[in-house]
Amino acid sequence: MREDYVHGYSDREAIRLVDQAKTLASLLHHDIKFPDGSSILEAGCGVGAQTITLARNSPKAEITSVDISEPSLEQAKSLIKKEGIKNVQFERADIMELPFDDESFDHMFICFVLEHLPDPNAALESLKRVIRKGGTITVIEGDHGSCYFHPETEEAITAWQCLIEVQKELNCNPLIGRELYPLLTDAGFNKVQIDPRVVYVDKSKPELVEGFIKNTIIAMVNGIKDQALDSGLIRRKEWEKGIEGLYQSAEPSGTFFYNFYKGMAYK
Ligand SMILES: C[S@@+](CC[C@H](N)C(=O)[O-])C[C@H]1O[C@@H](n2cnc3c(N)ncnc32)[C@H](O)[C@@H]1O
Repeated sequence: MREDYVHGYSDREAIRLVDQAKTLASLLHHDIKFPDGSSILEAGCGVGAQTITLARNSPKAEITSVDISEPSLEQAKSLIKKEGIKNVQFERADIMELPFDDESFDHMFICFVLEHLPDPNAALESLKRVIRKGGTITVIEGDHGSCYFHPETEEAITAWQCLIEVQKELNCNPLIGRELYPLLTDAGFNKVQIDPRVVYVDKSKPELVEGFIKNTIIAMVNGIKDQALDSGLIRRKEWEKGIEGLYQSAEPSGTFFYNFYKGMAYK
């Protein structure tokens, strides 16, 4: 398990992942339904936040969800049990060395994971190996360069930029969304289709003000506070003002924009 995974494995991060998945469920999953009886591999399932929606939307598919973190898998198992979901099994696995035969799954789902891997090309090659010919891969990623908000204070921009820099320092790619097309194409997938999924928030969408601006985005930025301060990217006072600035976008006169990328392709 990578000790330097940018978001870490805290209880606070587990809550954030669940909030994020619930808030974005219809935006990201409304068109994902796998055929009855098909076998699905969910790669990098974390605490099972996306697994719930995946399993509910395809109740007769057989889902195998893997992650490199055993504690995350334990949380995922109890979440799925609590929800009464029966069509998912969990296994610990590293995406780079999947313990499955070639072509053993019909379809693949991977969400918010490639951005955390130092070699996403190699990861896609590894994932492709276990998909059958004619099967599909669905990839969802963010792109932290696609974020803007109002009001736009200088400190809020700096705090947001810290998130990007901290992730880059770990040799990962926080701007990966825009690269999904070339990544999938270079890995040899066919009929690659990329679909941007925009989140735009203002006061008329109170559930997104809470669920997206505060519980997903600001919680994510807050999660890298220590790394940003320790690496000298920002001073404490400026950080605090930055977080305050981000909260202003959640006020009645504020607005927020972010773009996710959903990719689908065939082997
Ligand atoms: C941001 S979380 C996303 C979790 C989940 N897909 C979601 O959207 O809620 C990224 C996950 O990728 C997992 N991960 C990172 N590197 C991995 C690898 N090489 N193999 C398997 N899982 C990995 C991490 O342990 C973490 O649970």
